[in-house]
Amino acid sequence: MLVSVKEMLQKARAGKYAVPQININNLEWTKSVLATAQELQSPVILGVSEGAGKYMTGFKTVAAMVKAMVEEMGITVPVALHLDHGTYEGCLKCIEAGFSSIMFDGSHYPIDENVEKTRELVKICAEKGLSLEAEVGSIGGEEDGVVGMGEFADPNECKMIADLGVDILAAGIGNIHGKYPANWPGLNFEVLAAVKEKVGDMPLVLHGGTGIPADMIKKAISLGVSKINVNTECQLSFAAATRKYIEEGKDLQGKGYDPRKLLAPGAEAIKETVKEKMELFGSVGKA
Ligand code: 13P
Repeated sequence: MLVSVKEMLQKARAGKYAVPQININNLEWTKSVLATAQELQSPVILGVSEGAGKYMTGFKTVAAMVKAMVEEMGITVPVALHLDHGTYEGCLKCIEAGFSSIMFDGSHYPIDENVEKTRELVKICAEKGLSLEAEVGSIGGEEDGVVGMGEFADPNECKMIADLGVDILAAGIGNIHGKYPANWPGLNFEVLAAVKEKVGDMPLVLHGGTGIPADMIKKAISLGVSKINVNTECQLSFAAATRKYIEEGKDLQGKGYDPRKLLAPGAEAIKETVKEKMELFGSVGKA
């Protein structure tokens, strides 16, 4: 059974750790993430971007696959299936498809429009028992072809959105998706502290978890971040392990071309990355 992230994150806030949102891209990804969460007894949030949903032929396919995998693999740790950076229409589709949590990314709308659309989704999610994440201040980098500039969230706007009754809030604090450039100044903890002061106990999300130094992650958790999103880092470790397999000519040996063999090193590499994140975020043993 899939659960909303509400309870997971309340526990994380109280216990001063963060639950990883690991984005999934295909069956191997999902299997690796679920197996690692189970092995380490960590709660986990499976993130699905609109692009990844489309790639997997649609949100219904994703929801059916994840639900079946949780059952067939005997997964007992809390698992949430969460839409990442959803459009308003994407949110409605995921609610219908059986996701347990959604993110509405209205950060590119003027604040009044973000408020209005978020308010409607708060109502629907409350009726259906899903958790809802909202975003203020766009996260930089490129996500599904949309390039954000990496704004700092306005703490007053954060409060406006938080007061609508969302369960989780993503606030831009200088974090960006993908690899960080060499001249990245780091997370802005003053903005994070100011947001926290305005929104109180609302669990905060740190997007762009790839490549943020461990000390910054720990500080962010101490200042109220209880969900950290990771996508690119798994893609990089999957690609590196697959490259190594091919470059070593293993696909040319025996039945090394069998996809179950060809994709195995990448799938193992994802497990390793997820394990590192769970250890760093402090979610091991918290299921
Ligand atoms: P990265 O790809 O930088 O890890 O960011 C993931 C993310 O924030 C998804 O919303």
